[in-house]
Amino acid sequence: MAEMTWQEAAKKVAALALERYEHHTPKAFVYSYGCQQNVSDGEKLKGICVACGFGLTDSAEGADLVIFNTCAVREHAEDRVFGNLGALTHEKRRNPGLMVAVCGCMTEQEHIAEKIKRSFPLVDFAFGSSTPQKLPFLLLERMQGGKRQFPAPNEQRPILENIPVCRDHPFKAFVPIMYGCDNFCTYCIVPYVRGRERSRQSADVVQEVRNLVEAGYKEITLLGQNVNSYGKHLEEGMDFPDLLRKIDAIDGDYRLRFMTSHPKDANERLFAAMAESKHICHTLHLPVQSGNNEILKRMNRNYTREHYLSLIRKAKEAMPDLTLSTDLIVGFPGEDESAFADTLSLVEEVRYAQLFTFIYSKRKGTRAAEMPDPFTHEEKAERMARLLKLQEKIGTEDNLKLVGKTIRVLCDGVGKSADGLLAGRTEGNRVCEFSGDAKIGEFADIQVEKAFNWAITGRVINK
Ligand code: SAH
Ligand code: SF4
Ligand code: F3S
Repeated sequence: MAEMTWQEAAKKVAALALERYEHHTPKAFVYSYGCQQNVSDGEKLKGICVACGFGLTDSAEGADLVIFNTCAVREHAEDRVFGNLGALTHEKRRNPGLMVAVCGCMTEQEHIAEKIKRSFPLVDFAFGSSTPQKLPFLLLERMQGGKRQFPAPNEQRPILENIPVCRDHPFKAFVPIMYGCDNFCTYCIVPYVRGRERSRQSADVVQEVRNLVEAGYKEITLLGQNVNSYGKHLEEGMDFPDLLRKIDAIDGDYRLRFMTSHPKDANERLFAAMAESKHICHTLHLPVQSGNNEILKRMNRNYTREHYLSLIRKAKEAMPDLTLSTDLIVGFPGEDESAFADTLSLVEEVRYAQLFTFIYSKRKGTRAAEMPDPFTHEEKAERMARLLKLQEKIGTEDNLKLVGKTIRVLCDGVGKSADGLLAGRTEGNRVCEFSGDAKIGEFADIQVEKAFNWAITGRVINK
């Protein structure tokens, strides 16, 4: 069995599935929690399910195989998975043939894998993160009457190319360029559950993007926990700005985005590659986490507030039309009122278009979990509310500055604020709702007429 390829195993599963589900094509429900990287892994899991003879479905109801591709970044994410596994018990009672698998970041932590095994007997097998190729082998074994399997975490995860991908979106695509993380920010579980950094060969990345552009995809987002360290372990001697230039050279009508950039590694070479490109959006997601130097140090972020602000200045010099977004943690252990005030003042100074804000969540096994954390959840929630209020004010003010301007959006659906409107995203990822003649899946130029804190609205011009 060890020598079997995943494709061979998948063929055997498909043959077994034909016997087992003689009256219908079996259906798989793959649900991914967490970040885009996980969603991208989930798209590969779907591709492998199809290779195993399964059709895909959007709900656990009536499914023959349910796969929860889990996230461990905060306690809340894990609780959702436990809740949803509990709810599946009813479905299993209705359909005893249902198989249930759990994979992704939660299963890479021994205590969590153990809890899943003990508390949820309906789970047939688990497997780790970024290893979709394991699925056919585990399915095969279980379908042949093998026992439940919960493999040991932290095994090797070499990058496997040419896994089929069933993409969730018809014209927006995620392309991972690297996996894992070496940074060990003290609050973060990701390096423990995703392993060390490894990059895909640039030729593989470029080919995937070229195929997507040729297939008509309009927005491609390159993914990595820290894209700026792309290529570090590759022999080809290529870094992220080089990769960006190579991809940008692909002709076509498309947008290129990437995430996430770590401020300790982002530099002027990156900003120049963005500024000189044809397709890269002038938008930067640069997670700062905190505006206070002492907290940044204890987070092991390896930059100061001053360095971060100087980066923002340089990026804006290179791209005066740059839009920024960030991640912030409120209530890191020991963050007091004055440290939090530094975060507020940084947010006020940078003026982000979007904030992704999180109340600190203690993760077992990380260094921050050992740090004294004297502030209550209520105090942290109150600070979070102040932060959101400040952002609401900044968001509205900056959106108002766009009124009267013409802005390009990728039309991606219908608007929510009134009947008959279409919706899209600007280059800076702002939500825009508009009237006029545009097609979903195509770019449109919009004259901005009104601004709110959540969106801008307008109408299509030149059409
Ligand atoms: N690699 C990316 C994203 C990592 S996870 C980066 O470095 O920015 C996404 C975000 O979740 C982080 O940026 C951080 O803001 C938040 N996060 C991670 N661990 C957390 C924790 N234990 N509690 C609260 N927020 C956390
Ligand atoms: Fe987590 Fe830090 Fe790595 Fe991001 S860079 S995934 S926050 S350890
Ligand atoms: Fe969650 Fe794993 Fe992503 S922990 S945020 S799914 S890397």
